[in-house]
Amino acid sequence: MNHLLSVKSQEEIAHNIYKMVIHGPITSKMKTPGQFAHIRVNETSAFMLRRPISISDVDAVNETFTIVYRAGGKGTTELSKLKAGDNVDVLAPLGNGFPVEEANHVLIVGGGIGVPPLLELTKQLHKRGVKTTHVLGFSSKREVFYEEEFSRYGDTYIATVDGSYGTKGFVTDVIDTLDTKFDKFYSCGPKVMLKVLSDTLDMDGYISLEERMGCGFGACYACVADKKEDGTQVKLCVDGPVFKKGEIIL
Ligand SMILES: Cc1cc2nc3c(=O)[nH]c(=O)nc-3n(C[C@H](O)[C@H](O)[C@H](O)COP(=O)(O)OP(=O)(O)OC[C@H]3O[C@@H](n4cnc5c(N)ncnc54)[C@H](O)[C@@H]3O)c2cc1C
Ligand code: FES
Repeated sequence: MNHLLSVKSQEEIAHNIYKMVIHGPITSKMKTPGQFAHIRVNETSAFMLRRPISISDVDAVNETFTIVYRAGGKGTTELSKLKAGDNVDVLAPLGNGFPVEEANHVLIVGGGIGVPPLLELTKQLHKRGVKTTHVLGFSSKREVFYEEEFSRYGDTYIATVDGSYGTKGFVTDVIDTLDTKFDKFYSCGPKVMLKVLSDTLDMDGYISLEERMGCGFGACYACVADKKEDGTQVKLCVDGPVFKKGEIIL
């Protein structure tokens, strides 16, 4: 399942946020939005653990897919140095993604580096004739990305915590001003945001978590979380990263 693929392009699209397009025939398996790629940064022992990064956009015709990530720690900073033509070791697609279901109008809410997987989701919902409204939250203007890409599929609102772009505050400050009736919501972002949305939005929804991972395919138990009803545990890498609202303890 792991493949040595080639980097087609890499660019910094916002402050410390990189967009990498990767070429490889595994795009034919990338059918469900919200799945992730587990990436080995290089062969040295310092980077033994792969980095899980969501699949953001798939172009099956040209056999390319896109990841968007923040160069924060050692591994992602190393990843950001790769250039077109370099090889990258990818294990993908992994995880249980967002179900693309029938609906009239859905609300899509992203926070920071939780925004990327929602682009492929809205693209697929749009293809099915589902109307989408997007609310994307960032810390400040310099971290904002993908506004134009989401606008192609539906109304797109931006919130920044410091008010340097869009609405000042959190995604919930924008959602409070919308008087549309949505059938359900889909969200990916920091746990605190997912918790607030799950607790306050009066509709069904799907949330995607970004936790620490080891193997990425269910063998090491590094990503275990508690399920709600019966206290049983789930592995985020195989049972998630996407769950139904209320399905797990946040
Ligand atoms: C399913 C999933 C999808 C993700 N999608 C994206 C995405 O699209 N864009 C993006 O920027 N980030 C995403 N993340 C978070 C990303 O995996 C971490 O930011 C990244 O692994 C941190 O690595 P590092 O080299 O910067 O940090 P380091 O500090 O060098 O990492 C050390 C170790 O901790 C792990 N780690 C550290 N922080 C996190 C974290 N927040 N989540 C998971 N593992 C962590 C690393 O994988 C590595 O094994 C996702 C995480 C998951 C689980
Ligand atoms: S990361 Fe190993 S079991 Fe989930």
